Order: sequence, then structure tokens, then C-alpha cells
Amino acid sequence: MVEFRNVSKVYNNGTEALHNINLKVDKGEFVFIVGSSGAGKSTFLKLIMCEERPNSGQVIVDGVDVSRIRKGKIPYIRRRMGIVFQDFRLIDHMTVYDNVAFAMHVVGASSKTIKKRVPYILSLVGLQHKAKHHPNELSGGERQRVGLARALVNNPTMIVADEPTGNIDPALSFEIVDLLSEINRRGTTVLMVTHEHSLVKHFHKRIIQIHSGEIVADTAAMQEDVPEEQEPAVEEEYGEYEEGYSEVEVNEEYESEEADASYEEDEENFDEEEEDEEGSVDG
Ligand SMILES: Nc1ncnc2c1ncn2[C@@H]1O[C@H](COP(=O)(O)OP(=O)(O)O)[C@@H](O)[C@H]1O
Ligand SMILES: [Mg+2]
Repeated sequence: MVEFRNVSKVYNNGTEALHNINLKVDKGEFVFIVGSSGAGKSTFLKLIMCEERPNSGQVIVDGVDVSRIRKGKIPYIRRRMGIVFQDFRLIDHMTVYDNVAFAMHVVGASSKTIKKRVPYILSLVGLQHKAKHHPNELSGGERQRVGLARALVNNPTMIVADEPTGNIDPALSFEIVDLLSEINRRGTTVLMVTHEHSLVKHFHKRIIQIHSGEIVADTAAMQEDVPEEQEPAVEEEYGEYEEGYSEVEVNEEYESEEADASYEEDEENFDEEEEDEEGSVDG
């Protein structure tokens, strides 16, 4: 599903954000990406989302080498991903229903499909009763559930979330990850960056730790030896970096407007095969 082969990323100002990253995430996995502020976590996700390109190495997403992909094809790669933002990115003047429906509309779904799908997805995230509300009438946890609904509505093969619980009450963070877990159980791959140790400890998932642009721990490497239900063996090691965690996160810039607009361009150039519907959340 996702593979990094000797990937390095150096930004124009000379900052090496990632250094020789190698890893594989299989279809259906749930992965927490952890590490201190500035470690390279967001850069890692941006390479997967084609927001940045590596300087060297290959990034393979769904069998496509996205490090070399033509710009016009990027929207079609992104359509297979549900992206969840730390700051929700909801459209304030639209209702909850319309926020989710809009995500389907921009990819050309029919109104019949939209009418059927949106209520289903809203009920999946437990917000059917808030469909007519506006984002400013919702709690942070509820807003992020709308963000999740929007990410899910086009039936992505993968959810990519950069600190999705960073702006919500810690107690509600568990709810969001519970939902992501449920979505994952239904077959969608989940990649989630987080700072919150309590989450990582509570949900026993694969943990990839990035430190100064390098992977310093990956529980997948020891999975065969770890019986289910047992604490991941890496946790102690992970604890060593605890002090390095900053409370204040650098505010990343996402090019969301641009990304949204680009959904509409270049349709005729899309010669990828049709998305397969396997791993659907319709189950
Ligand atoms: N657009 C950019 N231009 C220059 N440097 C950047 C850019 N984005 C991130 N960086 C730098 O790359 C490093 C990794 O950043 P980032 O991937 O955002 O880390 P994290 O998400 O783990 O906090 C940091 O040193 C950061 O300052
Ligand atoms: Mg970040």
C-alpha cells in the first residue's frame, strides 16, 4: 500500500527533514507515527499525499511511484486518500451535511449517490442528528467527526491524519481514535501522526517513531515475536524520547485550497485503472 525506498527530503532552505527512510505499510494496517516536533512526521505524510516530492528515493502509494508522478495525476492519487486535518478545515457557512456532501460533489458524484451516502457516513461517525447544524455549533470532537466523515465519504483506501486530535479535548481524542480503529477494522489503512502518548499506549497499533528525520523504532519489525494483547515491546524505548516531545507544535501549512481546486482539473488525462471498491466502509 505504501512503501518508502531510500527516501530523503531536503527543503529548499537546506533542512534535511527525512534521511534515507525505508518502510512498508501493508493494506489494512493502522500505524501511529510519533516523534518530537520537527522530527519529520508531517513531511513523511506530505510525501505520501504528494504535497512534497522526495529529493531521492521512491515513494510508492497503491503501486504507483508518486515521487515521479505528473502533477496532473496527483488529484487522482489523493482521491484514494481521506485526509484529516488537525484544524478540521470545515466550511463554516455550510451545514454538517453539506460539508460532507461537498466532498462528494467535487469528485463528481451524482446527487442520488450523495443523498444515499452522506446520511450513512454521518451515522457511522454518530452525527446523523447534527446534519443540519453548522460547524460553529459543534464541539471540537464533533467537528473532527465531521472531518472524519468528509475524509471517508469517497470511500478511500487509506486515511491520512496529521495530529487529528491535536485541537480537541484529550478525553475526546480517544473517541476519534476509536472511530479510526473501527474504520480500520472495516479494511481502510490508517496512518496517524500523534503527540499523545496516552493514545499510543491505549490502542495497540503499529508504532513508527521518527527522530531527526530517521526511523528509530518500528514495532512492525518485532510483530512476529509479540503475542496479541501484549504491550508492544518498543514502548520502553519510545519512552526515552518522551522528554523531547514539545507541547507546542510548529504550525504546518497545508495547501488545502489549491488541493481542492485541483480535484477538478485534468480529468481526461486520468488513465489509471478504476479504483477497486475492496476495503469499503459500506460493510
Ligand atoms: N516547507 C518547509 N521548508 C523548510 N523547512 C521545512 C518545511 N517544512 C518543514 N520543514 C522543516 O523540516 C523539519 C521536519 O518538519 P516536519 O516534517 O514538519 O516535522 P514534524 O511534523 O515532525 O514536526 C523541521 O526542521 C522543519 O522546520
Ligand atoms: Mg507536524
